[in-house]
Amino acid sequence: MTAPILSKLSELRTLTRDWQRKEEVIGVVPTMGALHQGHLSLVEAAKSGCDRVIVTIFVNPKQFNNPEDLANYPRTELEDAQKLLPYKVDAIYVPDPDEIYPQGFSTTVTLGGLTDVMEGPFRPRHFEGVATVVAKLFLQTQADRAYFGEKDYQQLLVVRRMARDLDIPIEVIGCPTVREPSGLAMSSRNLRLSQEGLAIAAHKHAIMKRTAAKLSAGHDFAELAEQAKIDLIRAGFTEIEYFDLRCAETLEALTKASRPARLFVTAWADGVRLIDNIAVDPA
Ligand code: PAF
Repeated sequence: MTAPILSKLSELRTLTRDWQRKEEVIGVVPTMGALHQGHLSLVEAAKSGCDRVIVTIFVNPKQFNNPEDLANYPRTELEDAQKLLPYKVDAIYVPDPDEIYPQGFSTTVTLGGLTDVMEGPFRPRHFEGVATVVAKLFLQTQADRAYFGEKDYQQLLVVRRMARDLDIPIEVIGCPTVREPSGLAMSSRNLRLSQEGLAIAAHKHAIMKRTAAKLSAGHDFAELAEQAKIDLIRAGFTEIEYFDLRCAETLEALTKASRPARLFVTAWADGVRLIDNIAVDPA
């Protein structure tokens, strides 16, 4: 049976009320569509942890700080629904824009701390847009569990913090990044890379892993970061926005892998902004 594609909150509520009456555990996978294996791995995790799974598809204008990026964002709903078929999800919620931002909508969810670093300064108001739409999707779906990829690790922490701060009764679950055989983290943006761009991008994961291994062996970050940046530029990256070692829980900057940490890199290749991060075991 194909999952119903719903565009109205009232239709979604009819389903979720019924599931809640039966005490079924509801999982949600929030997406902006253009589904790839990374999203599908979240759907798989939701299917194995929940009785009912809702996939949401909404290209959220409030989280784009670049209008061109929003205009170019791939919109592939029919293909997305096809890709979801084998997973037998219970609903695909593709809300009409005014179900999310009705006339006169004037509430914004803002977080401090976690949003002050990395993506925050480079993408002003991005996390406000994410936190606002995700809060709405959590409340609209009434889900008990939500699944997010660790590829957007900062987003995962922001969303978890937001749910805790606002007492939204939902468990936010982080799932491992899915990678191409080359190590490149799966992302809708990869579609914009040429063959040459893909070859350049493929170097990033190897450079990150090398750096992470040396950090776990006790080396200082500063020197390793300099070398890694040189390696990235040699590989063909044109700009490195940040290359940071941070605490995996608080995102506080670290000079050594003195506790569970993540290495975060955002760099441009072939005109595409590529973000990635990996876990670093403490030294
Ligand atoms: O990661 C994404 O695709 C988006 O930021 C999200 C969480 C669906 C919110 O629009």
